[in-house]
Amino acid sequence: MIYDYSVTTGKGETLNLSDYRGKVIMVVNTATGCGFTPQYAPIEQMYKDYHDKGLEILDIPCNQFGGQAPGTDDEIHEFCTIHFNTTFPQMKKSDVNGENELPLYTYLKSQKGFEGFTEHPYKALLEKMFAEADPEWDKKPDIKWNFTKFVVNRKGEVVARFEPTADMAEVEACVKALLAEDAESGLEKVCRFLEEAGTYYLATVDGDQPRVRPFGTVLCCKNRLYIQTGKIKDVSHQLAANPKAEICAFKDGVWLRVAGKLINDDDRDVKVAMLEKTPSLKAMYSADDDNTQVLYFEDAVATFSSFTAAPETVCF
Ligand SMILES: Cc1cc2nc3c(=O)[nH]c(=O)nc-3n(C[C@H](O)[C@H](O)[C@H](O)COP(=O)(O)O)c2cc1C
Repeated sequence: MIYDYSVTTGKGETLNLSDYRGKVIMVVNTATGCGFTPQYAPIEQMYKDYHDKGLEILDIPCNQFGGQAPGTDDEIHEFCTIHFNTTFPQMKKSDVNGENELPLYTYLKSQKGFEGFTEHPYKALLEKMFAEADPEWDKKPDIKWNFTKFVVNRKGEVVARFEPTADMAEVEACVKALLAEDAESGLEKVCRFLEEAGTYYLATVDGDQPRVRPFGTVLCCKNRLYIQTGKIKDVSHQLAANPKAEICAFKDGVWLRVAGKLINDDDRDVKVAMLEKTPSLKAMYSADDDNTQVLYFEDAVATFSSFTAAPETVCF
């Protein structure tokens, strides 16, 4: 997950990618003395046009291609602000290939490999240079040159890789389309909160009393929030008698309460997905044991509340 990575800014501070959750992120390795250096101008223009709509640019100066970023972090920053009026933050000069490459780049390259250069005056020159050095050059996902761009959508998926030869108008069109997409649905947010909390408390109706148990299973599937239990358990019998249920979880100063009805679903595919997602269950349950039960919330109201933010309600 892209949000597991961090980078160091030119000022030496740590920037956690998780701070960019829900944003569109463009990661670009840059150099100050390259034929592609003028791309700083359209990149800055994109930042000006789209930053307040959710675009973050991660500029990683890199000296691995032709030694074309020889300056210190301060010199690189000065060059960019003087020549291109850049306002987006610049990261510390780093490697994007090889044994010292940023772990972020190992991840980006694993998600999107090299798919060839697009038509460009430098295309033939670059291809000749790489082919002479390594006949297998185009099969490897490594970064080929300065100004390679990765674009990450609001869900954190690496959706595009643009080689430096790509038309900047194409890059912009991609970013613009991704900015129009939603980060995640309210239901996905509830599900992620429960997953990250690890344990939540499930209240069912036992006779006329609530009965509360720690629970951990959760799956977002078919646009529903599912939990899992065994049919032979008391919780299952209580739900059969009265489907009213509540979930409560606490994480990072935020309470989540989900109240609704839990409905049994016999769909084998959901059982399989639940067991796949929760490996600890696989020793105890199987999709065909006639015990595994998956239940989804119906007529649910979920509320996030904290001391610091206004309550947020999601219905599903
Ligand atoms: C951290 C934790 C997570 C649990 N998660 C689940 C769960 O997801 N589903 C479940 O059926 N039981 C889960 N249990 C067990 C239940 O809390 C409870 O003990 C079990 O359902 C048996 O209760 P019953 O027979 O009274 O229904 C969990 C227990 C703990 C301690």
